[in-house]
Amino acid sequence: MSDLNQLINQARDEFLNCSKLADLDHIKAKFLGKTGPITEAMKALSTLPVEERPQKGAEINQIKNQIEDLLNARKKEIADHELNQKLENEKIDVTLPSRPQDKGSLHPVMKTIEDISQIFHSIGFDVTDGPEIEDDFHNFTALNIPESHPARAMHDTFYVNKEYVLRTHTSPVQVRHMEENKPPIQIISPGRVYRVDSDATHSPMFHQIEGLMVNEEVNFANLKGIVQSFLQCFFEDEKLTIRFRPSYFPFTEPSAEIDMSWNGGWLEIGGCGMIHPNVLKHVKIDPSQYQGFAFGLGVERLTMLKYGVNDLRHFFNHDLRFLEQFR
Ligand code: PHE
Repeated sequence: MSDLNQLINQARDEFLNCSKLADLDHIKAKFLGKTGPITEAMKALSTLPVEERPQKGAEINQIKNQIEDLLNARKKEIADHELNQKLENEKIDVTLPSRPQDKGSLHPVMKTIEDISQIFHSIGFDVTDGPEIEDDFHNFTALNIPESHPARAMHDTFYVNKEYVLRTHTSPVQVRHMEENKPPIQIISPGRVYRVDSDATHSPMFHQIEGLMVNEEVNFANLKGIVQSFLQCFFEDEKLTIRFRPSYFPFTEPSAEIDMSWNGGWLEIGGCGMIHPNVLKHVKIDPSQYQGFAFGLGVERLTMLKYGVNDLRHFFNHDLRFLEQFR
């Protein structure tokens, strides 16, 4: 019996020396398992005289219970310890600064559109837009380019089907706006346009900004003044001047190309003119009462000039090294 009592001390020591839950199970088996001393002692009961068996059995059971209590206590200790360790290791210091994250930014072409819109907004122009898949009527016919008119060949058009095209310019937005609104009209409409064209200076998709002003006494001098003030504002250069070079567009008469002074020379940045009476008639505005001007500017061209970008393709190939410079 004293041997068995010894067992308690021995088990306590071994449990204490053990620091892993998995190992604890091995030690448990050693003391309480099928071939362990407790089981052996139980079996040996049958060799004792019958009257001694109950008391002896109770003693063995008590020792067994004590060992089990020790085991459970140690189990809890180890489990607590492991949990604390885990909490300690996984502790998050919420006061540490976070890792820097890359912020997105506006594409330079979009930034230009926003800047232009803001300048025109400040002088009373509304910003409007229209569909990129446009019907033949709005893209051509209403702009005084009837079918079989040679001017259709000026635009290398992507046809969606017989009736619809990818708009080749933003001018159809003029038509749509005038169909819905009566003068006075002052709008600009930025957006994507499409032409079958692709090289270092042409992209099949690019951006234009259309400007339109219609009222009873709108004249060519207003057009020139507004375009020049806008460009001075956009390029932050009060000395910037423009010149108009006679040109032809079916929807304006007279028509001109807009050149602006640049590095001692002239650079073309868009087209313009006084709205052709036929266009006004198409949208049921009386040309004997109202007149107006329109202009169309190339957004990529303006962006390239403002930021010194030398290849149009930079805008479309999504190289972050290029785009990040505009943050
Ligand atoms: N729509 C013309 C083009 O894309 C530009 C333009 C707009 C010209 C308005 C005159 C007036 O070429």
